[in-house]
Amino acid sequence: MPLHIDVLTLFPRMLEGFLSESILGKGIERGLVSVQVHDLRQWCVDKHKTADDRPFGGGAGMVMKPEPVFAAFEQLQTPGCHRVYLTPDGTPFSEPIAREFSGKQHLILLSGHYEGIDQRIRDHLIDQEVSIGDYVLTNGTLPAAVVIDALSRFIPGVLGEEKSLTHESFTGKLLDFPQYTRPAEFRGMVVPKVLLSGDHSKVEAWRTARQIEKTRQVRPDLFQQHRHESHH
Ligand code: ADE
Repeated sequence: MPLHIDVLTLFPRMLEGFLSESILGKGIERGLVSVQVHDLRQWCVDKHKTADDRPFGGGAGMVMKPEPVFAAFEQLQTPGCHRVYLTPDGTPFSEPIAREFSGKQHLILLSGHYEGIDQRIRDHLIDQEVSIGDYVLTNGTLPAAVVIDALSRFIPGVLGEEKSLTHESFTGKLLDFPQYTRPAEFRGMVVPKVLLSGDHSKVEAWRTARQIEKTRQVRPDLFQQHRHESHH
């Protein structure tokens, strides 16, 4: 059975183009993964379809009400499904988490909104809270898309070539080397000579040197990790 993902959001249309386009869209078409987007409003049953309310204890902003979210989970959840809430105060998302999610049978991704959601949702419905980075977005719908995109790369068959996975950033803990394609000279800007030499070991050495240089410059944290790992 392929992985099934349910996304719960107040902004379902934010995901339309994302799900139909590109490599992920093809993976969905080919049945390698299925994604269903649900408008949380359908579980807001009062006459104004209210999704939020004022916080107990006071303060600015609104809080997502528990009733619609509990009703949605009670309808959608399956035994053993993994329930994830996207929030800036969650565990930092990373490649190992993406790989883990790709191996599940059923994921439910809950996008929050407003200034937060009622804590009882987090306490009783959610297995894991995930942040995609230290910045605050207006809601968790784009973060849900980011999680789906990242995990889809670990589903067999989604990426055309298996090897395109292994050579990329973060698997080897160094950032990527620069890529060039034809023409060898464009408006006076030339491709590094070594890449045209046909000497594979020289090309490899040049690429590794560029990776190390780039990683040291822009990600000293990854560079230190790499140094520690290559010394053991
Ligand atoms: N919702 C708002 N900001 C977020 C973030 N950085 N990560 C996950 N969910 C979010």
